[in-house]
Amino acid sequence: MLLSDALRARMSVRAFKPDPVPRETIEALLQEATRAPSGTNIQPWKVHVVAGEMRDRLVAEVLAYRDAYPEDDKSEFPRPPGQRKEPYVGRARTLGKAMYGLIGIPKGDKAANFAQWGRNYKFFDAPVGLIFTIDKDLGPMSYLDVGLYIQTLMLCATARGLGTCAQGAWNQYHTATRRVLNVPDGDYIICGVSLGYPDETAPVNTLVADREPVESFTTWHGI
Ligand SMILES: Cc1cc2nc3c(=O)[nH]c(=O)nc-3n(C[C@H](O)[C@H](O)[C@H](O)COP(=O)(O)O)c2cc1C
Repeated sequence: MLLSDALRARMSVRAFKPDPVPRETIEALLQEATRAPSGTNIQPWKVHVVAGEMRDRLVAEVLAYRDAYPEDDKSEFPRPPGQRKEPYVGRARTLGKAMYGLIGIPKGDKAANFAQWGRNYKFFDAPVGLIFTIDKDLGPMSYLDVGLYIQTLMLCATARGLGTCAQGAWNQYHTATRRVLNVPDGDYIICGVSLGYPDETAPVNTLVADREPVESFTTWHGI
């Protein structure tokens, strides 16, 4: 697949078929994505791959934890509240409106919203989950590196006909995730990624998220 085709084809997949992804395929993706750049080549990404019984256990324990402690939804690493201001909040609302419209959740239905967000913790039924962690001593530059790794991996997955969804949701309810996966104290849980074969019949997978025009974020100098 051409890179330009993979870029166009990649989208956040939020409904998956149960078909398993062979371990060799996951390994190949993890390997390919190591070509992602990182500042001074420190390659700070770390990933826990969960599938099979371990995936089911993680899903069950995180969902049970969330039901018991719904308010314990903060990330363990500092996240300034900046995304609650414009223009970000408006963009997030546009996405939410389009997505919840496709799924058929009426505005203001808190219980349905809570349940739908909970699908994050089932990896949207994907057979494989990736939980990314980072050394607590590293700063924002290293989070950039992990993001580059994740996007590279998601594009490689697209090229193989696989679907993905990056999931910040996994930095919530991290207490349970840390316990189940035995994440070392020295690492933060920063993000998850669902991985599997997309369910092409699911309405939610028809969502095409808007993008802002280039002039809205570009300042030209000398050209
Ligand atoms: C760092 C990051 C965290 C995200 N977290 C979630 C999440 O927790 N749940 C979810 O459904 N989508 C999540 N997304 C997907 C975004 O909503 C999606 O990338 C955006 O709306 C653009 O849509 P597209 O990926 O289909 O192009 C996340 C994406 C990124 C990059």
